[in-house]
Amino acid sequence: MSLCTDVAATFTSRLGLSADGVWSAPGRVNLIGEHTDYNAGLCLPIALPQRTYVAARRRLDRRLRLWSGQADEPVDVQLDEVAPGHPGGWGSYVSGVLWALEEVGHPVGGLDLVVDSEVPVGAGLSSSAALECAVASAVADLFELDLTADDGGRAALAAVCVNAENTIAQAPTGGMDQAAAMRSREGHALLLDCRDGSVEHVPFEPETRGLALLVVDTRAEHSLVDGQYAERRASCEQAARELGVTSLREVPAEQLQEALTRLDDPVVRARTRHVVSEIARVEQSVEALRRWRIRELGEIFDASHASMRDDFEISCPELDLAVDTARAHGAVGARMTGGGFGGSAIALVPWGDEDEVGEAVVEAFEDAGFRTPRYFAVDASGPAGRDA
Ligand code: GLA
Repeated sequence: MSLCTDVAATFTSRLGLSADGVWSAPGRVNLIGEHTDYNAGLCLPIALPQRTYVAARRRLDRRLRLWSGQADEPVDVQLDEVAPGHPGGWGSYVSGVLWALEEVGHPVGGLDLVVDSEVPVGAGLSSSAALECAVASAVADLFELDLTADDGGRAALAAVCVNAENTIAQAPTGGMDQAAAMRSREGHALLLDCRDGSVEHVPFEPETRGLALLVVDTRAEHSLVDGQYAERRASCEQAARELGVTSLREVPAEQLQEALTRLDDPVVRARTRHVVSEIARVEQSVEALRRWRIRELGEIFDASHASMRDDFEISCPELDLAVDTARAHGAVGARMTGGGFGGSAIALVPWGDEDEVGEAVVEAFEDAGFRTPRYFAVDASGPAGRDA
């Protein structure tokens, strides 16, 4: 049985009546452009085939009753009690979306909801954004908010989800993950410009070029609610302040060296070097992708990983080993993806070599005494929407 029919069946057995519908949203991997979103920069995610499904039914009161296949305890909360840090845990990502919709003046109300997910939690594949965006799609349709039909509405829903995550779940993330889940297109990477919110769909079908995109989930724990992510964000904001610009996006790559001489703190300098050079690498990657210059793309991926490892300091031994092993076994390019400090890496590998490269990583992890990683090939998939 697919997860879509599964959540609908679970809903009926728990509540004794059927859901109004089922909605889903994808996880994501970012091809390149890491920690650039909250610097008003560029990034290039794709939506994953793995999705989070919600079966939901509108209520006439303001109660939220939520069940999850990933959690033992249901959440039962009044919409008017939703606040920063409350109800906490996974329930914050769901109830935060309804809260954030009301913040921008959309009339919503109570909900019964069952969620289940194929997106691994804590793997840096945006399980939180997938959950928020599946819920946002459901609520927008159930309360007839007219926000799911076009990209403008979808961009507004993505912004609502970011506010839910920042304010109620209290994770100070940027907007890439929610944009990927709401605004992606199948067979395309999403070039997102976080300065003005505009998007471009860049064709991305590696199999037509004899390549596959491999995701390696290192299973090294990753969390965005701990201090490291916020600390990186604060350094970038400090750099922008000291340079007298509204964001690091305003520092052109050609002026990077000069800008660095104006920053005293060596750590802030290194963080700045990463962000400004990474934004330039997104532009270079899009060029290389449009012409399918694979060797060039591989070199850009390598440079991106080195920048995250050495300047932004968000890699970890597991991610470095996954990337180095994939490269040594024929990947044309590999890099960590997402927030960092654990989570997943991606590798572009010759089509048909996915298992060979994946198994090489598994073996290297075993030798190093790390947890057994998971790996799987992915296609660029479709955005959030209604399934049933
Ligand atoms: C996490 C955040 C995103 C983005 C990435 C790093 O996934 O949720 O907003 O900052 O890290 O690129």
